[in-house]
Amino acid sequence: MNLSNSQVYSVIWHNDAVSLIDQTRIPYEYALVEIHRCDDMARAIKTMIVRGAPAIGVAAAYGMYLGAREIKTDKRDVFLTELEKVAVMLRATRPTAVNLFWAISRSMKVAYEMLGTVDDIRKALLETAQAIQVEDLQTCQAIGDNGLKALPANPHQLTLLTHCNAGALATAGYGTALGVVRSAWREGRLTRVFADETRPRLQGAKLTAWECAQEGIPVTVITDSMAAHCMKQGLIHAVVVGADRIAANGDTANKIGTYSLALVAKAHNVPFFVAAPLSTIDFDLTNGSGIPIEERDPTEISQIGETIITPTIGVDYYNPAFDVTPAELIEAIITENGVFAPKDLVKSKELQPV
Ligand code: MRU
Repeated sequence: MNLSNSQVYSVIWHNDAVSLIDQTRIPYEYALVEIHRCDDMARAIKTMIVRGAPAIGVAAAYGMYLGAREIKTDKRDVFLTELEKVAVMLRATRPTAVNLFWAISRSMKVAYEMLGTVDDIRKALLETAQAIQVEDLQTCQAIGDNGLKALPANPHQLTLLTHCNAGALATAGYGTALGVVRSAWREGRLTRVFADETRPRLQGAKLTAWECAQEGIPVTVITDSMAAHCMKQGLIHAVVVGADRIAANGDTANKIGTYSLALVAKAHNVPFFVAAPLSTIDFDLTNGSGIPIEERDPTEISQIGETIITPTIGVDYYNPAFDVTPAELIEAIITENGVFAPKDLVKSKELQPV
């Protein structure tokens, strides 16, 4: 399937409802799911119809507005109490990506600070969701362009390896790690992207490969276990990944498998970059040990699609969805406000969006 317009927007506000690209159907089908209610938005985040740290932040902000629309009162106190319940429900969807919590807190702050009628608050919540979405798109474009300063100068044309999907689908558009890829492609600095398939949910094979193919960016899908071999063969000049939460010291939570990729990159002297908005940095955490790691259903391991691939009895599973890459394995963190060595991340604190 090919989209005539290669611009991909994971979240679309249209006709008083939110349309989400159903990311569980890509690449087989491009389908939109229309969301009218906040509990449906919570379900969409949980089931990964919408996924990727910045995208679930945007989706949750719209979820806050949908929830506000459903609260039938014009009493400010009652309204704010009910809105807190919406926030609790949306926060309970996925624990690792800090953007979700950041977007919900920003919406709650707007609600508390808005003087005026309940209708004024509802309006402000919609405007907040739209602002978060627009800002994220601009942020990703800036991250992409800043990535050009961080990438190795030699050779001029690079082969980049990425993990999971940190693309337009995972953000308001353009992507973080894939934003760097897009900018490098636009500037003639990229020959090819290698995409780890990203077991168990295959975001690399399904989503990253699809996004690149849409735009004619040469992409090679490999299984996760092939990265070391490819590096040894000199096929990879740099690794660029996204992030779900970055602690103050630069330790970075991202899709499971990122940590082993960083170790392999270090062993082969391949620079390893994290591309993420400042809203992904959690300055409340001094290091990565406090980052909550989501555990998902064992069927993500025991099945491929509907097909069971493991013995049905006598087998246990452990399915952490994220891991934490220690800061010392990270060459630099590429943000919308510049490129930071992990140890210098604290300098970005005052630049962080509120
Ligand atoms: O479980 P997912 O698919 O939501 O995980 C996504 C990732 O790990 C991404 O790399 C991360 O959210 C950054 S997206 C710009």
